[in-house]
Amino acid sequence: MADLTTNFLGITTPNPFWLASAPPTDKEYNVRRAFEAGWGGVVWKTLGEEGPPVVNVNGPRYGAMYGADRRLLALNNIELITDRPLQTNLEEIARVKADYPDRAIIVSIMVPCDERSWKAILPRVAETGADGIELNFGCPHGMSERGMGAAVGQVPEYIEMVTRWCKENYDKPVIVKLTPNITDIRYPARAAHNGGADAVSLINTVNSITSVNLDDFSPEPSIDGKGSHGGMCGPAVKPMALNMVAEIARDPECKGLPISGIGGVTTWRDAAEFMSLGAGNVQVCTAAMTYGFKVVQEMISGLSDWMDKKGYTDTSEIVGRAVPNVTDWQYLNLNYVSKAVIDQDLCIKCGRCYAACEDTSHQAILMKEGRVFEVDDSECVACNLCVNVCPVEDCITMERMAAGETDPRTGKVVSDEYANWTTHPNNPGACAAE
Ligand SMILES: Cc1cc2nc3c(=O)[nH]c(=O)nc-3n(C[C@H](O)[C@H](O)[C@H](O)COP(=O)(O)O)c2cc1C
Ligand code: SF4
Ligand code: SF4
Repeated sequence: MADLTTNFLGITTPNPFWLASAPPTDKEYNVRRAFEAGWGGVVWKTLGEEGPPVVNVNGPRYGAMYGADRRLLALNNIELITDRPLQTNLEEIARVKADYPDRAIIVSIMVPCDERSWKAILPRVAETGADGIELNFGCPHGMSERGMGAAVGQVPEYIEMVTRWCKENYDKPVIVKLTPNITDIRYPARAAHNGGADAVSLINTVNSITSVNLDDFSPEPSIDGKGSHGGMCGPAVKPMALNMVAEIARDPECKGLPISGIGGVTTWRDAAEFMSLGAGNVQVCTAAMTYGFKVVQEMISGLSDWMDKKGYTDTSEIVGRAVPNVTDWQYLNLNYVSKAVIDQDLCIKCGRCYAACEDTSHQAILMKEGRVFEVDDSECVACNLCVNVCPVEDCITMERMAAGETDPRTGKVVSDEYANWTTHPNNPGACAAE
């Protein structure tokens, strides 16, 4: 079994799976059981400043989005940071850290955006012996209206300023957690980098309204007939998170900035994908909230088996492997030609591919006698839509045409030379450059 020991910012954990700051990590009772289940580390539920703790709603705080089989695709929450006293949390953190020296405990913090508030909490967190801190610049609801969380994460100058305060007043790793509720994730990541952050973590939750109750017309979750936007997470946000991680990983101005990947990690495969796009480890919330702490055991065995099969002996061999293959559209090879191919033995004759291609793509699937579906290569543009709507895995595949063959759609001979939009004759920019 491959060794999953992972070193992130000099913090060594038995595997790259950490629980993200959220209800699974909000108290000693939970974190101890999480460590017993096998989690490599946790980011403790966000602590606020000394004083009366925040108050959560007393009605529903979650909304949900389901797949057709009622599998949870996303959660939406309106929960705030910890509503337990600061001192209670600090004492619990110290106790758990002392008992689990081989696991990471990172303390998530969100206090008002002034230096005094940060200077007040940092030494108290340092005393717990925790391995580092994570600055919560991500929560998009409740706290952001009070000038914290995403309200800071949306202003790169604030991110840089607070990060710098933390680096000056705390001597262990400082991770900056970013909000996805921003147009270009590179700007906040660069600000964190410039402020001296040891790493960024992303994503926090995405602004959302999950659904509207059509009896009383209130957004859900509904509190006494009213709802507010919340933060969405879970499998549905993974594609957005992967893109943002990749954007930072390939940004020259963020070169060398470690990333902790978060957003919809449910299986070992999700984790491997985040890591291949540059994440040094991953954090998980919704999967633990849906399946319980032991879900990590599937992640550990799955990642380890896959690494064995591929001959990888260290998780660092995966990190960033896919980054050189992330490019901009204009550099994609326009001489790459493929066609859809239907496996008649696997086809269940449902006709979905036909409906999709006929009505919304290129009328390239023919329905023949006996509901036999065939691809007409002279019309197929290889868009892949039929593959995506077909209910049978691998029933439709995309097959590349070999160099020298003639594409029946364009009448052109397929070339094995790489050619992209930057030099294409139809590109006015390319002509102007000549
Ligand atoms: C109920 C709930 C509470 C959360 N509270 C916090 C928090 O206090 N601090 C924080 O940084 N992130 C918080 N998050 C965000 C998660 O840490 C994580 O960034 C997000 O859920 C995406 O990961 P996932 O798709 O694995 O759930 C919370 C998420 C949920 C669902
Ligand atoms: S790849 Fe696109 S164009 Fe080709 S058959 Fe499928 S849906 Fe039609
Ligand atoms: S969608 Fe798939 S299973 Fe259904 S008819 Fe097309 S190829 Fe066959």
